[in-house]
Amino acid sequence: MRIGILTGGGDCPGLNAVIRAAVRTTEIEHGGTVVGFHDSWRGVVEDDARPLTSDDCRGLLPRGGTILGTSRDQPYGMDGGVAKVREAVEKYGLDAFVAIGGEGSMGVVKDLHADGIPVVGVPKTIDNDIAHTEMTFGFQTAVQICTAAIDRLHTTAESHDRVLVVEVMGRHVGHIAAWAGLAGGAAVTLVPEEPFDMDEVARRISLRHNHGRWASIVVVAEGAVPAPGTIELPELPVDAYGHQVLGGIAHRVASELENLTGIESRTTVLGHVQRGGTPVAFDRVLATRFGVAAVDAVADRAFGDMVALQADQIVRVPVSEAVAHLKVVDRAMLRTTGIFQQPYIRAEEETAP
Ligand code: F6P
Repeated sequence: MRIGILTGGGDCPGLNAVIRAAVRTTEIEHGGTVVGFHDSWRGVVEDDARPLTSDDCRGLLPRGGTILGTSRDQPYGMDGGVAKVREAVEKYGLDAFVAIGGEGSMGVVKDLHADGIPVVGVPKTIDNDIAHTEMTFGFQTAVQICTAAIDRLHTTAESHDRVLVVEVMGRHVGHIAAWAGLAGGAAVTLVPEEPFDMDEVARRISLRHNHGRWASIVVVAEGAVPAPGTIELPELPVDAYGHQVLGGIAHRVASELENLTGIESRTTVLGHVQRGGTPVAFDRVLATRFGVAAVDAVADRAFGDMVALQADQIVRVPVSEAVAHLKVVDRAMLRTTGIFQQPYIRAEEETAP
C-alpha cells in the first residue's frame, strides 16, 4: 500500500499525531509506505514531497502544528491543478491520498472524489464545526487554552471591578466560546448562532454588578454578530481566499458595554495562541484513532469517505454529507450556557429597598 498524506487549511494541535498514526499503521499493518506532500495540495500540484517513515515521526505525538506545513491552496484554484493531482497519483504509485483538513478541505475531497481521484478525508479544526463527527481534534486543546486564560482573567477582573471581554475563535459557530464560557464561568457568552442585543447584555452586566458581583467575564466568539437593528459593525476586509478577516468584535463589545454600564471594560483577544502548542490528551488520542481509521479506509477503498467520531466509535461518513452543512452549537448547549447567564439575585436582595 502507498499513501499520499497532506494537511490543509489552518493548522491545529493533533495534525502530527494523525500523520504519525497513518505512517505507523501503513508500515506495521500493510508493509506499505507513505509520501508526505508539503503545504497541502500545493505540494501535490508542484510536486513537493518526501517519504515519511516511522523514524521521521519520532517525537511527533505531542508536537503542535504540522511537520508537512499547510496552506489554503487547492487544485481547483491552481492552473491545471486536478491534472497534476492525477499525475502525482501515477508518479508515486499511490493507492490514495489521505487529506487532513477542515470544512474547505473536505469540500475539495468531495470534488476530487467526484473527479475520480482516490482520496479519504480526516476532519480537523479547532472550531469543531464539521458535521457528522461529534468532535474534531484540536477543539479540546483550544477550549483548554481559553479556559486557562479565563481563569487568570477572573482574578484581575475582580481586583479592578472590571468587565473583561475575551474574544475566542469561531468563524461561523460558537463551540469554543460556549465550552470555554461554561468552563470558565463567564457572565455572558456571545456566539454566532444567536445574534446579540447590546442593551440586553449591558442590562445583565449592570444587574450583576448592582447586586454584589464585582467582576464579569464576557466571552465573545470572533464571528458573533449583533441582532439586526441594533449596533452596526464596519465592513470586514477579506483575505486572498475570500474569507473575511475576523477579529475585533471584542473591542466593540467592550466599548459599548463601558458606555452603557459605566463599568470599566477591557479586552483580551486570544487569537492564534488557541491553535498553537501541544495537543491535550483527548486530541492526541482522537487524532491517532483518525489516522489509523484513515488508513483502514484506504485499505477498504472507501474513497470519498471521511472518518468521524460517533458515539465514541470511529466511523466513516460520505464526505459529501459532512460538507452539506456546518455543525452549529445545539439548542441544549445554548440553553445550558443561557442558564448561567441569567443574573443570579438572592431573594432578600430583590426585596431590599
Ligand atoms: O478555522 C479555524 C480558524 O482558527 C478559525 O477559527 C479562524 O477564524 C481562522 O481559522 C483563522 O484563520 P487564519 O489563521 O488564516 O487567520
